[in-house]
Amino acid sequence: MDKIETQIGGIEKIDEAVRLLHEGEVVVIPTETVYGLAANALNAKAVKKIFLAKGRPQDNPLIVHIEDANKAKMVAVDIPESAYLLWEEFSPGPLTIVLKKHPLVPYVTTAGLETVGIRIPNNELALETIRRSNLPLAAPSANISGRVSPTEARFVYDDMNGKIPLILDGGPCKVGIESTVLDLTKETPTILRPGAITEDMLSACLGKVVNHKGKVVRAASPGMKYAHYKPMCACFAAKTSDEAKELYNHFTNSLIIARQDFLDTCDVDNKIHLGETPEECMRNYFRILRENENIYDVIIIESFENEPQYLALQNRIAKATEKPDKI
Ligand code: TXA
Ligand code: MG
Repeated sequence: MDKIETQIGGIEKIDEAVRLLHEGEVVVIPTETVYGLAANALNAKAVKKIFLAKGRPQDNPLIVHIEDANKAKMVAVDIPESAYLLWEEFSPGPLTIVLKKHPLVPYVTTAGLETVGIRIPNNELALETIRRSNLPLAAPSANISGRVSPTEARFVYDDMNGKIPLILDGGPCKVGIESTVLDLTKETPTILRPGAITEDMLSACLGKVVNHKGKVVRAASPGMKYAHYKPMCACFAAKTSDEAKELYNHFTNSLIIARQDFLDTCDVDNKIHLGETPEECMRNYFRILRENENIYDVIIIESFENEPQYLALQNRIAKATEKPDKI
């Protein structure tokens, strides 16, 4: 890949972003969850550039971002009433809905699947880029494949400098972890990836919703199959502060990340407060990993295993702390 100069800018760069997208280039957009590496979802050549810049496996489908529910017909067919109910309730917001794909959406975008994931992001800069370009934008998280998702433009720059022409900077992401992915093509709506829109919120709207179970043969959602959300250093989850301290003392140059009560009982030098609510913890989590993965050799994270309200975050922690033989 030729090295190109990567610019960073805000709203003043939107016209350039739109021009680049129309020319089949890749542009980074901010969203409320994490930053996205965007290209025209209907242009196979442009979408291939996303896979190249990320180093993403070809069988990992991309999410298509649209500005409102009326545009869903451009990228999906046989849209059930339940999809519109969900958009009414949760859009714009951190929810991706998997539907039957429109024939115009190329298979590169959906990684060969007959379905397409659609999301309406809750970020003005992203929505304005989509509106002005009048294009559905395929966008995975803007990190190198397998690495921690970027929640600020500077983290995107670390991974994408020299590979793409433009990063739109919308400040820190407000949600901080990726959207909930819900498959509506199954008999019962199925959560493929947990996120800030919880199972309870979805079932209050739809009735029954289930979590994906079973063996992953193909990437129903790639987090299930590939190493994902992995910091550069070793990571461990600790259920108790005693366990955390033991790990901390076992290694040199380690860090503990946890809520305040947990930290208060850890008498160690290197510790960082993650937050006190699920929302706060989700917002801070990827940023803290990005800021510290090159400073420490080992990061120890409080485990939220038995707290259902932290399910989405615990899913990311489990991925970060997975050992290689499990991948
Ligand atoms: O919050 C987000 O979703 C962010 C922002 C940029 O929108 N995007 C994101 O994209 O996290 P990515 O590529 O890192 O993750 C996309 C997830 C994967 O788990 C993928 O398998 C799933 O969405 N997905 C996309 N299309 C799908 C489809 N047709 N069927 C099943 N899963 C799909
Ligand atoms: Mg990702």
